[in-house]
Amino acid sequence: MLHVTKASGLQGTISIPGDKSISHRAIMLGSLARGRTEIHNFLTGEDCLSTARCFRAMGIEMEGLGSTTVTVHGKGLEGLTEPEEVLDVGNSGTTMRLMLGILAGQRFFAAATGDRTIRRRPMGRVTRPLAEMGAKIWGREGGTLAPLAIQGENLRPIHYQSTVASAQVKSSILLAGLYCDGATSVEEPVKSRDHTERMLRYFGGSLQEDGNRVTVTGRPDLQGRKVTVPGDISSAAFFLVAASIVPNSELLVQNVGINPTRDGILEVLEDMGAGFELLNQREESGEPVADILVRSSSLKGVTIGGDIIPRLIDEIPVLAVAAAMAEGETVIKDAQELKVKETNRIVAVVNELSKFGVQVEERPDGLRILGGTPLKGARCQSYHDHRMAMSMAVAGLVAEGETVIENPECINISFPGFTELLKGLTR
Ligand code: S3P
Repeated sequence: MLHVTKASGLQGTISIPGDKSISHRAIMLGSLARGRTEIHNFLTGEDCLSTARCFRAMGIEMEGLGSTTVTVHGKGLEGLTEPEEVLDVGNSGTTMRLMLGILAGQRFFAAATGDRTIRRRPMGRVTRPLAEMGAKIWGREGGTLAPLAIQGENLRPIHYQSTVASAQVKSSILLAGLYCDGATSVEEPVKSRDHTERMLRYFGGSLQEDGNRVTVTGRPDLQGRKVTVPGDISSAAFFLVAASIVPNSELLVQNVGINPTRDGILEVLEDMGAGFELLNQREESGEPVADILVRSSSLKGVTIGGDIIPRLIDEIPVLAVAAAMAEGETVIKDAQELKVKETNRIVAVVNELSKFGVQVEERPDGLRILGGTPLKGARCQSYHDHRMAMSMAVAGLVAEGETVIENPECINISFPGFTELLKGLTR
């Protein structure tokens, strides 16, 4: 159980652990590159460790796993070997979907599965285009649900028009495209996070971008490099919102990735009237980074929808908490993707925020929240969803009385040390 009580002000300086999306990609591309990739500020969360274990099972040697500095000894595009055991992605959708793209181009057979949540998440969005490229894939429900088995083949390049703005879909196809002769492209309705594209270029790959279409040239000679992973803006989000809504707060959140495909939360917080400044803007391993100084402010409700959604999709649960503390109505629309995350986050947010006394309604594509009602402490479920657990902890900081979060261990999936960091600030 995680116990949280009302806070009187968050003050100090904190550093955010490494970005989850970038840490996964550093292991994967480090494995497919030739030579040594030294990863600094690697996220030691369970999801990224799942990726590392899967690539170890395919013959890649790594040092420092469990610490924030990991060295990957890459063997080149053709260097992976057949895993003797079923690859276990744990709770990580990114591991499953990106790894399937890589497995599609191998000369071996592999099977992959994950936890209960993963076994319910839609995989057809990647297995269909990968099958179109020539991979043989088997799984439940016609190869759309894990456990999945895949026999890599000689792939043919495709031009794929995706119906969802999903970096996992885009990345899976681009990674399979590395194993094709010629150009593979993916076009999506709205541009999703572009960490794969940035890191592929950083390792020496060749890509072209034209609007929301990305094209990768197959069979590049990727070279291992030193990667410094920026702090995860999706983890920083909990503290950015917390310091905005807890009165008397002034918090310096250091080392936050501010990639423009991920920074929707900053735009929304600004619209809501939050007070923050970006300091010390710089670039690390091809990704923009800043420190963010945030102070408490009175927030107002906003409408969030359209093209910004993929830029803040993982931050919606905590933005819902900000909305509960804001004056007036907040509507979140065009966010159907929330239904297929670690849990159905529309339902989870409605259920849990209601327990705090928040006026919140489910919409077919999002949420409506009427802010301004004082929150009362609640007993919450995590749904084994790390972002739900941390969002409810943030709500607990502004609720009267005690908030208890059940099954908070899922927080380790993306943010080991979250509880200690929060306790250190509220003591
Ligand atoms: C991720 C992409 C997003 C995001 C997830 C991480 C990635 O998922 O929600 O937490 O690392 O590519 P979708 O691709 O399903 O939108």
